[in-house]
Amino acid sequence: MRLVIIGFGTVGTGLAALLRDRAAYLAGRYDFTPQIVGVATRSRGTLYAPDGLDIDALLAAHQGGSLRDYQGAASRDLDPLRLVGEAEADVVIEASHSNFDTAQPALDHCRAALRTGKHLVLANKGPVALALTELHNLARENGRQVRYEATVMAGTPALRLAEVGLAGCTISAARGILNGTTNYILEQMTGGLAYADALADAQRLGYAEADPAADVEGWDAAGKAIILARTLFDVPLTLADLQVKGIIAITPADIEAAAAAGERWKLIAEVSPSGGSVMPVRLPLADPLANVGGAINAITYRTDLMADVTLIGPGAGQVPTAAGLLSDMLSLLQS
Ligand code: HSE
Repeated sequence: MRLVIIGFGTVGTGLAALLRDRAAYLAGRYDFTPQIVGVATRSRGTLYAPDGLDIDALLAAHQGGSLRDYQGAASRDLDPLRLVGEAEADVVIEASHSNFDTAQPALDHCRAALRTGKHLVLANKGPVALALTELHNLARENGRQVRYEATVMAGTPALRLAEVGLAGCTISAARGILNGTTNYILEQMTGGLAYADALADAQRLGYAEADPAADVEGWDAAGKAIILARTLFDVPLTLADLQVKGIIAITPADIEAAAAAGERWKLIAEVSPSGGSVMPVRLPLADPLANVGGAINAITYRTDLMADVTLIGPGAGQVPTAAGLLSDMLSLLQS
């Protein structure tokens, strides 16, 4: 499987390191021998080597600040869109920053990938939230697939649970904690840390979006709710269809008041075929969601045959997100 990775930040570099570190295991267990043939970044250049890039040299060049310094044979400085279109590759991985307004420039990369016969695997939430129907249509026309497990709860298999594990059930609603950054911040504030310090920690730990306003204003969780609506219910909700409120107005006094009442603030996302919301809610400690801490996420699916089914696991961060991309690649391989 020859890969082009678009976006080489926390997630893209994490994926490269994971493929390097697990190479023997992936080959032995799955007969999976991926090769990174191209990498595109916004500000650090691009690389393309049809026979594969050396991952150590790639990460070293990236760390040094410019892919141009890659020690090895490769085409440098191809425009990202040209790279996606012209590369001899099987799969394009979209791991650049999520843009919930236009999904660009990632959406054009996704279109070019599918039009030129590559499968598409995304961690970038923008194109999935805003244009999944178009991407599915393009994939069908070109005999390729689109996968996006990492966009909701990182590598915790929220989408696969709904689509595969609960196949045959009707899911009528989903509710949960879908943003790691805000969950981390609320927990740290409960421990007495100031909001700005908690946010800075979440950024340092690789949980936050490039512009963390998307996290703390609720748009990241709302984007995931839309992805769920399309995936679970085949309903094309837009961000404008949801009621969205983030955590920026929650003060230390609010947190103390909740604690005094035996409750905790959580940013709860809900979605059903008719709409949804993202809202900070005070939950009693007896509610299992109240005890989901750090950058852990949780989702409860309301089903007809199985009543409520809840999944809890990492929802953000370098390794968990790279793991989500890897699981999509393996399921592409198996299909
Ligand atoms: N910024 C996101 C979060 C990353 O904190 O959940 C994972 O989508």
